[in-house]
Amino acid sequence: MFETLEARPADGILALMQMYHDDPRETKIDLGVGVYKDANGLTPVMRAVKAAEHKLWETQDTKVYTGLAGDPAFADALFDLVLDGAVPRETVAAVATPGGTGAVRQAFELVRLARPDARVFVSDPTWPNHISILGYLGMNIERYRYFDEATRAVDFDGMMSDLKTAKAGDVVLLHGCCHNPTGANLNATEWQAVINVLLETGAVPMIDIAYQGFGDGLKEDALATRLVAASVPECLIAASCSKNFGIYRERTGLLMAISQDAGARKLNQDTLAFLNRQNYSFPPDHGARLVTMILNDEALRADWQAELEEVRQNMLGLRQQLAEELRRISGSDRFGFLAQHRGMFSRLGTSPDKVAAMREKNGIYMVADSRMNIAGLNARTIPILAKAIIEAGV
Ligand code: LMR
Repeated sequence: MFETLEARPADGILALMQMYHDDPRETKIDLGVGVYKDANGLTPVMRAVKAAEHKLWETQDTKVYTGLAGDPAFADALFDLVLDGAVPRETVAAVATPGGTGAVRQAFELVRLARPDARVFVSDPTWPNHISILGYLGMNIERYRYFDEATRAVDFDGMMSDLKTAKAGDVVLLHGCCHNPTGANLNATEWQAVINVLLETGAVPMIDIAYQGFGDGLKEDALATRLVAASVPECLIAASCSKNFGIYRERTGLLMAISQDAGARKLNQDTLAFLNRQNYSFPPDHGARLVTMILNDEALRADWQAELEEVRQNMLGLRQQLAEELRRISGSDRFGFLAQHRGMFSRLGTSPDKVAAMREKNGIYMVADSRMNIAGLNARTIPILAKAIIEAGV
């Protein structure tokens, strides 16, 4: 029977991972998949995660099922980390999910159950898997302008005029911080203007926050999400622990559905538990438990925050060094946007041909849309990349 299956297009980011892996050149540079790397190119287990795992190994005496929504203590801990009381806890329905992608998937399914004809507005560009999952679920996708190819900053006027076409019953997907794939983000005034449009149109915001702590700081990166949640009647938030806790393979995420209508919270909670049951029954617990232990233990939390801050500062430093090296060798300021962008990624803003040329000639692997993982760089590779960028005629 399976001969009827149709071949699926490969995921561009994952295909690039494989190409990098298969490239025998020792000089190759991986700026592809969004995984943090230190100066030695390693993605170590964070200190607090190791300590929590040790403690868990010593103290955990059962691995019996938690609940369909996961352990409530995890939801409480992540609610505090992301929202910090911006809305009353009792307005928030929450389920643990397999990673941030699981939260995104469950959020889309919740929307589809509530409004099968909803249009989901996504930034152009957005994380390609947003589009892929929406398409797979047969949902309506609308794109709003986001990235100005000339300035490599947010095309705010374009974004606003496109968002104004949303209506009640539609969803607007926003990146809470560290926009993936561009690295270009809204400022506080612009966020407020987006909130005003959401209130005028009645469209429901959905915030994907996968890089909290990688941009301007743990608290700073959550401010926009908190403001949106506190300002609108309903909101969805898909939070990931993959990056900021470095527990990629543990698949740890949380979906929150906020409704200021007290009756709706129970309906949201029951429906999210139902969706978990249909898709995978109980969500994974190991990563969620580690996160809960770290956030609820003063010493572990302090150590985690310190290490996360080192990671953030390291990426900021790499951005500045790359922008500076490009300024030096190009004799122009046209790459200054690299120091303005935030998070793990920057979109260089060049053609797939030039990206392919840099890969073939210099062994530099960035996503075809010219997204670079800044964390894949180090002091040795920055001059190599800068030279390749100039030689490719970017
Ligand atoms: C990325 O954008 O590279 C990450 O979110 C990893 C992924 O699953 O695509």
